[in-house]
This record gives sequence, C-alpha cells and structure tokens, in this order.
Amino acid sequence: MGKASGLLLFLLAFGFFVVTYNLLTLIVHNRSRVGDDTNGGTVLDPIVQMPDNMRKMKSSRPRFHVALTATDAPYNKWQCRIMYYWYKQKKDIPGSDMGGFTRILHSGNPDNLMDEIPTFVVDPLPPGLDRGYVVLNRPWAFVQWLEKANIKEDYVLMAEPDHIFVNPLPNLASGSYPAAFPFFYITPQKYESVVRKYYPEDMGPVTNIDPIGNSPVIIRKESLEKIAPTWMNISIRMKNDPETDKAFGWVLEMYGYAIASALHGVRHILHKDFMLQPPWDLSTKGKFIIHYTYGCDYNMKGELTYGKIGEWRFDKRSHLQGPPPRNLSLPPPGVPESVVTLVKMVNEATANIPNWDNL
Ligand SMILES: *[C@@H]1O[C@H](CO)[C@@H](O)[C@H](O)[C@H]1NC(C)=O
Ligand SMILES: *[C@@H]1O[C@H](CO)[C@@H](O)[C@H](O)[C@H]1NC(C)=O
Ligand SMILES: *[C@@H]1O[C@H](CO)[C@@H](O)[C@H](O)[C@H]1NC(C)=O
Repeated sequence: MGKASGLLLFLLAFGFFVVTYNLLTLIVHNRSRVGDDTNGGTVLDPIVQMPDNMRKMKSSRPRFHVALTATDAPYNKWQCRIMYYWYKQKKDIPGSDMGGFTRILHSGNPDNLMDEIPTFVVDPLPPGLDRGYVVLNRPWAFVQWLEKANIKEDYVLMAEPDHIFVNPLPNLASGSYPAAFPFFYITPQKYESVVRKYYPEDMGPVTNIDPIGNSPVIIRKESLEKIAPTWMNISIRMKNDPETDKAFGWVLEMYGYAIASALHGVRHILHKDFMLQPPWDLSTKGKFIIHYTYGCDYNMKGELTYGKIGEWRFDKRSHLQGPPPRNLSLPPPGVPESVVTLVKMVNEATANIPNWDNL
C-alpha cells in the first residue's frame, strides 16, 4: 500500500502544476544569438559591438556542467575521448557557457581513461533488470551521480559519447525552462494508448509531452533531481510491458524521459539549432553539437547512397571493437560541409590524443 499510494499522491500533487502548464504553448526558441550573422550580417543586437572577452564578462548566463553517460566498452571509449577533446577546445571560446565535465561511467568499475577524462563511477542496474537494453542504465546513473557528486554548476547538459561540440555552446536553458532538441521520431500523440499507461488522463493532454529524449538537454540540477528517479521508474516499467517495449523499441528510454518530465510539469524550450545530424543536416553553421549517429555513405560523385554501403563512408558502427584509425580519408568533392567537418574534427582529435591506437 505504502509505495503505490505514495506514488498516487505524488501524481495528484503534480496534477495541480500540470494543469497550470497546460496553458503554456510549445515554446520554440527563436532568439538571435549575439554575434550570429546568419541573416546575411544583419545583427540587431547592439551588444555585438563589444569585444569578445567583454561580451563574455557581461553574459549573465549561468554555466552548465557537461555530464556524459558512458560504459567502458571500447566502442564507447573512443567516442568519449573525441567528445572530451572537443569540449576542451570549445569550452573557453566566447559564447560558451560550458563549465566542468564529468564522464558518468555506469559500468561499475574504473577503466583506463580515468586519468584522461574526469570520471565519476556509478553502479549499473542489478543484473537482468535492463533486459539487455543497456541505455536503461542512464537514468539510474544520473540518480546516483546527482545524489553523490559535488556539482558546482546549477545547470547540467546531458550529453552522449557520439556528440561533438562544433561551436561554443551557450546555456540555452532559460531560468527553470530546460532546453532540448526536438526529435521528429518522438511522437507521443501517435502512441496515445501506450502513453496513457504512464501519463494518466487527469494529467492533461498527451501534447504536454515534449518530443524529446534526455539528451541533449540543458536543465537545472534541481529539476533533474526530481525527474531522474521518475524517469528511471517509468523506463523500467516500460521495458517490462511488452506492448510498450514493442511500440517504442530502441527509443523507449527517450519516451521515459519525455513522460517523466511532463509528469513533473516541466516543459522544454525546443531548439532546432542545438544539434545537427549528418548526413541529413548539411551545414554546421549556427549549430552546436554534431550527433554522428547515422552512417554517412557516398559514392565518388559525392552522392548520398544512404542504406547502401558507399564507396566512401564514415559510420561509427564500423568501429564497434576499437577506435577508428587516425587520418581517415576525407569525403569526395560534393559531400555536404557537415560531413566534411565531422571527419576533419574526428581526424584532428585522433591526431592529438596521445596513445590513440594503443591505449
Ligand atoms: C524566427 O523569427 C524570424 C523573424 O522574426 C522568422 O523569419 C523565422 O521564420 C523564425 N524562425 C523560426 C524557426 O520560428
Ligand atoms: C521508484 O520505484 C521505487 C521502487 O519501486 C520506489 O521506491 C520509488 O519511490 C520510486 N520513485 C519514484 C520517484 O517514483
Ligand atoms: C593523411 O592521409 C593522406 C592521404 O589520405 C596523406 O596524404 C597525408 O600525408 C596523411 N597525413 C598524416 C599526418 O599522416
């Protein structure tokens, strides 16, 4: 009785807030960034006249801690090394609000990157609980880290190993509104009957659920402290429910975060510029994080051959057992700037990270 009625009371309490937030329409971020000249050089913000270092000093945006969840698998490790390398390159550039960095290692034991990357080791879920779906460990990792670590910043960026900081990332959150990237394939309305198992009707319409996952998200630590345990519970319940597991598949834990945050009445500012995903997004201009989750396959004429192995290719999944070699060949002419930049950034990182091939 204790647990179930406790959870019910908890849901009812948050119902009050959620009703309030029902009135809130989806906020899509559309603020000209300082120094952004994507409108053909027309910059309306007079602050752009300031020298870069002044601009940074005047910035009232609070810094955020970069939290990267990862395992000790070789496939995760090489991505984390590149990710951390680019964090260090971009952290102190004007426009960045990046603070400290932590790799939250959720495989339970220290590994051989402890000296290279600031790392906090947490426990994995008890054996069997993740049912082979290793990303269920992410919410549990955040619960443990938030509880035990001493985090200086008030905000946290939840990041993943296949993220590369391509431009200095500002704190895109605004007060208690976290910032997130909208994913076209997260569609709570399409799965209303499944979603209602976790987000009961008295909480409001399913459109209260943002089309997001937990990453990338910049969020206040105190909000994440509330959301993370719910995110964990919901994700585990979802994984144990065959209908939900089948409906959501590999994005189950993204729905878990989206629904958990809605249960707590938290709505996200949706930033399309937060991230770009080659090969679909063609340019890195004005964007902040390259997410290299899709394979990039091209023929020698520079034409995309998606779904068919290209004469030229870059695909993280070609390197499941260990790191890609240094100095990957650049794509043929005609390939979008986003893909060229990705490969150049991978090459720059691997050229400069000591013991790249033989750690
Ligand atoms: C942002 O605002 C500008 C001008 O106000 C408008 O032209 C543009 O379409 C808006 N972009 C988005 C994504 O809403
Ligand atoms: C999550 O589940 C555990 C175990 O069932 C329970 O003790 C805890 O209170 C739950 N937390 C939340 C936030 O629902
Ligand atoms: C990288 O590879 C290119 C050929 O693809 C070669 O010309 C170049 O010298 C190599 N650079 C390094 C640093 O090995």
